[in-house]
Amino acid sequence: MTEEKKRILTGDRPTGMLHLGHYLGSIENRVQLQDKYECCFIIADLHMLTTKPQREEIMKMRDNIRYMILDYLACGIDPEKSLIYLQSAVPAVYELNLFFENMVSFNRLVGLPSIKDMAKNAHLDPENVPFGLMGYPVLQSADILMPRAHFVPVGKDNAAHVEITRDIARRFNQYYGEVFPLPEPILSPVPTLIGTDGKGKMSKSAGNTIFLADDTKTVEKKVRGMYTDPNRVHANVPGTVEGNPVFIYHDIFNPNKDEILDLKERYRKGTVGDVEVKDKLAIAINQFLDPIRERRKMFEKEKGLVEEILYDGTNKMNEVAKETMSLVHQAMGVAGTWKKISRIARDRKKS
Ligand code: TRP
Repeated sequence: MTEEKKRILTGDRPTGMLHLGHYLGSIENRVQLQDKYECCFIIADLHMLTTKPQREEIMKMRDNIRYMILDYLACGIDPEKSLIYLQSAVPAVYELNLFFENMVSFNRLVGLPSIKDMAKNAHLDPENVPFGLMGYPVLQSADILMPRAHFVPVGKDNAAHVEITRDIARRFNQYYGEVFPLPEPILSPVPTLIGTDGKGKMSKSAGNTIFLADDTKTVEKKVRGMYTDPNRVHANVPGTVEGNPVFIYHDIFNPNKDEILDLKERYRKGTVGDVEVKDKLAIAINQFLDPIRERRKMFEKEKGLVEEILYDGTNKMNEVAKETMSLVHQAMGVAGTWKKISRIARDRKKS
């Protein structure tokens, strides 16, 4: 890790395989950022506990962590350039989280839309959420400030958490002296990808996803089942292109712009069947996914490689954490109390 480059921290909860929405919304951007910044990517398994603390859920996470890292690598996140690490294996995060809990007011956290959404998705009462879920943004602040990151690429839903992180850093620095930079969010420039059902954003819980790991046949099947213009009961009925998920996907994934123009024109006139439009889309998406599939296969074949990458990244983060915690302890004066007591006690034992 070189000192001149500014640091970035971002990452994901290990919820499972990544889909096209993840790719466009964040992964693609991360791959770009790797050259300009020193990037740290967190696998936030402790954050999973805020909605799914059960042992079975923790067991399920093991496979999810593996899938997610395979997806990262397949998309071009390069462990030579960037650090991928497991949050729960960096004990200093738990400690910093506790210090930070005192740097933010309860009212600042109550009623955050992101927390309400997570509670709802996990079928918890949004008015009566666990203490840990309330503290989600505080734990995230500990993640971000542990490597003293300057930038945090996040989606809209997480922007408020970066705001809280800045407040916490500001408060900490006020109390104890300048230890942390005030991290800035890098908001994703791409609008959220609509799901295959055309109802809302692509998300696993909505079941409207195309996963990066889906095979050719699965993609064909999912595209065939995509929502289009519901008024078009026959191929000869003129259809609407605007806001039609099939054409939104064409615009994103089909590099053949002439083909798209032609399909749109015929769709508007009612001279093309949905099947043709969809089959061409499936081909485009499959061509887009092919190199990703190939790289995933390569990484999958090498036994233990994913584990080694995570192991090395986590060890590096623990080294960074040691530096940060040393600064934190010195600034706060907390470590000194025990040090002094120990010294006096040991001296007495000797005499
Ligand atoms: N909150 C992120 C999510 O929605 C995951 C996460 C945890 C994170 N810690 C982070 C993102 C630190 C950016 C920075 O899944």
